[in-house]
Amino acid sequence: MKLPHIPPFKTKVVEPVYFRTKAERAQKIKEVNYNLFNLHSDWVIIDLMTDSGTGAMSEQQWAEIMLGDESYAGSESYFKLKRSVKEIMGFDFLAPTHQGRAAENILFSAVVKDGDVVPGNAHFDTTKGHIEFRKAEAIDCTIPEAFDTSVYHPFKGNIDLEKLEAVIKEYGRERIPFINITVTCNTVGGQPVALANIKATCQIGQKYGIPIYMDIARYAENAYFIKIREAAYKDWTIAEIVKEMFKDVRVVWMSSKKDGLVNIGGFIALNDEALYEKLGQFTIIYEGFLTYGGMSGRAMGALAVGLKEGIEFDYLNDRVKQVQYLAQKLKDYGIPIQEPVGGHALYIDAKRMLPHIPQAQYPAQLLGVEAYIEGGIRGVEIGTLLADRDPLTGKDRLPKMELLRLAIPRRVYSRNHMDYVAATMANVMARRKEITAGFRITKQAAILRHFTVELETI
Ligand code: F0G
Repeated sequence: MKLPHIPPFKTKVVEPVYFRTKAERAQKIKEVNYNLFNLHSDWVIIDLMTDSGTGAMSEQQWAEIMLGDESYAGSESYFKLKRSVKEIMGFDFLAPTHQGRAAENILFSAVVKDGDVVPGNAHFDTTKGHIEFRKAEAIDCTIPEAFDTSVYHPFKGNIDLEKLEAVIKEYGRERIPFINITVTCNTVGGQPVALANIKATCQIGQKYGIPIYMDIARYAENAYFIKIREAAYKDWTIAEIVKEMFKDVRVVWMSSKKDGLVNIGGFIALNDEALYEKLGQFTIIYEGFLTYGGMSGRAMGALAVGLKEGIEFDYLNDRVKQVQYLAQKLKDYGIPIQEPVGGHALYIDAKRMLPHIPQAQYPAQLLGVEAYIEGGIRGVEIGTLLADRDPLTGKDRLPKMELLRLAIPRRVYSRNHMDYVAATMANVMARRKEITAGFRITKQAAILRHFTVELETI
């Protein structure tokens, strides 16, 4: 008999899960104005709101917590992290930050100015926010296949090279401080970028004298997909692929809360000493001294180890297979999901699951609320609430897709938990005709409304 796949780890510490009845959950979600962000976590059974900072650390990482050197300057934990980054990524200079968006703040303070444009594959919200905050523009150059859930493409995070060159020609290289590649591309569903595409983008950068920067929150998952899907690299190790991905990249920044396997942290890494010195001024005013930049010594130590564990093939294989396992179960129950599934999450298509709910009534949010009531599962809406209003008309922007994202925390849930999630969604699917009306907004903030929005049922 072929032995079944099992995770490459076992449990040493456990965390309780609290169970409530469906009626209690229905009451609670009403009390919090149908906003899943307002739920106290002990009211959630399986929390799939994000894979960011929600993972479990290993015994080696917990050992580093005890070894953390909390010196203000010159902490040994910083040097441990610096050595890991050098060994894995090949960069000499390291600026730690408290999380990914803090790295964006420091980096873009140094290089982005009013009137600039930053082309790239679908920039993450905070990346876009930090670019726009500086009165610059983020231009999406992702391949069109990324936005069609019905077509298969192994690397939907790829940059559309023709579009990229057209953008460079239109705006001129002087206005483009860097080209941005996000691996994997979260905004289009955690979709990977092929190594061939990274190399071709770097060549375009070289041709026009524009450096390439990379948002590497989920770089290890991207490297895994390269190994599995890009024939030329099937015999390469993840470590070799990572080095190749970064070979011609000038600067990387990371939200370490993802593939760094830690609960908080981030950094910028580069080989350009002059730029590193420039970043230092911003690190000191925004984050802290150069050798901790917003992280505790123990958190840097845990990250130094987490980065190494995050590129182990067995770990990555288990992680991606878990996401694919849940996706297959949902498909077997007839639940429409975006395909192929990416590395860290899967996205349920609410327009196809609840076709009778008008987009103006927030169908993806409705699906999220129903999943919560049904089984205590917390996902996140990627739809009209998130898309927010047109700043000129004040009316809702209706995005092409209404999605419920279920993001899977790293090393936290078992296959049993995935079966529970699938059964919950199957039950919602079975009674979807009884779900007849969505929500209207009763209160919303001026920007980023989805975090605090208040809703009522129609
Ligand atoms: N870049 C990417 C690709 C991200 O996915 C995130 C965060 C960030 C940057 C910002 O990093 O949160 O550490 O400040 N993504 C989280 C998510 C919030 O749920 O997808 P951060």
